[in-house]
Amino acid sequence: MTSTLITNIGTLVTNDPSHPGLLGTVEDAAVVIDGSVVTWTGRAAEAPAADRRFDADGRALLPGFVDSHAHLVFAGDRTAEFNARMSGQAYSAGGIRTTVAATRAASDEQLDAQVDRFVREMLRQGTTTVEVKSGYGLTVEDEARALRIAARHTPETTYLGAHVVAPEYADDPAGYVDLVTGKMLDACAPHARWVDVFCERGAFDGDQARAVLTAGIERGLIPRVHANQLSHGPGVQLAVELGAASADHCTHLTDADVAALAGSGTVATLLPGAEFSTRADYPDARRLLDAGATVALSTDCNPGSSFTSSMAFCIAVAVREMGMTPDEAVHAATAGGARALRRTDVGHIAPGARADLLLLDAPSPVHLAYRPGVPLTAAVWRAGIREV
Ligand code: NIG
Ligand code: FE
Repeated sequence: MTSTLITNIGTLVTNDPSHPGLLGTVEDAAVVIDGSVVTWTGRAAEAPAADRRFDADGRALLPGFVDSHAHLVFAGDRTAEFNARMSGQAYSAGGIRTTVAATRAASDEQLDAQVDRFVREMLRQGTTTVEVKSGYGLTVEDEARALRIAARHTPETTYLGAHVVAPEYADDPAGYVDLVTGKMLDACAPHARWVDVFCERGAFDGDQARAVLTAGIERGLIPRVHANQLSHGPGVQLAVELGAASADHCTHLTDADVAALAGSGTVATLLPGAEFSTRADYPDARRLLDAGATVALSTDCNPGSSFTSSMAFCIAVAVREMGMTPDEAVHAATAGGARALRRTDVGHIAPGARADLLLLDAPSPVHLAYRPGVPLTAAVWRAGIREV
């Protein structure tokens, strides 16, 4: 194996609590990677020898972003719907059915190419781990196909057969829940790590969401929940009660919801791209952080509510609109995402961690929020391989 010494790092973000501050930063730092892992971090002056040397030229090095919530297996787009929204129309989950029709009509090759395109687009922006959901098939075959394709690109695959009730079951939602918890789950569980449900008016209520999640848990899947996005509902409490890894969106929360999240191991995953693209009020990250909840930031990349793949954009919005400091937002986009995916090998830089690294074209991670909309990727390594 070949080792590489990355030296002359202006600011190293480790997310390691043994170093100072929330981001565990080290100044004038160096990192050694060997094969797919990090083997050494510290001051450049104390760095050991390595086979190769990379001069970071005083720039900031971060863990690659962990995007723990994305819907990448789809065809078509929803430009017309976005245009209508920007002329005043409200977002509705009903638009999901437009993408379901386009996705069902697409070939396996088209869907695979689409996922590949988005994973590469994310990589170019520093995202080295991404979760990918099904949810635009809504038949046994189409959901299983979406997960088979997703699994070629990431181990973080999520069964979201319960995205909305399939059009064929519009008059029989109970029948659809039976399908999602029965034959569809049988076909999908072998290809999925997680089970998710859109718990919302117009999608699935608390009882239906509980049925979907408990059926998934019985098949060995770990729950995560689309919760409290468009209105207040039972999603967050259900996520906490079932020990979900993450409650996602968390836009409409009562004090009891915030307290429940803070007292639990369930991460509050905030998705500012969705509020941006639906012209809705942002979730209150400050309230969650002050209560002691763990917060993650993710893109929610999908053609309906949030067609961004940029974690840097989410960081900038979270800082400007959601009460987060730049350090908190960067932490949420790296270590927070890792927590939401229960991953201990990514989201931080320390000996033994996977060598997922983002070198910024900037001296400090603050620039991600300070220079919104500016492409700041200088280099990206994923599992020790230089990808960008
Ligand atoms: O996370 N909320 C449910 N699902 C997606 C939106 C999907 C769509 O509109 O196509 C979300 O925002
Ligand atoms: Fe989503």
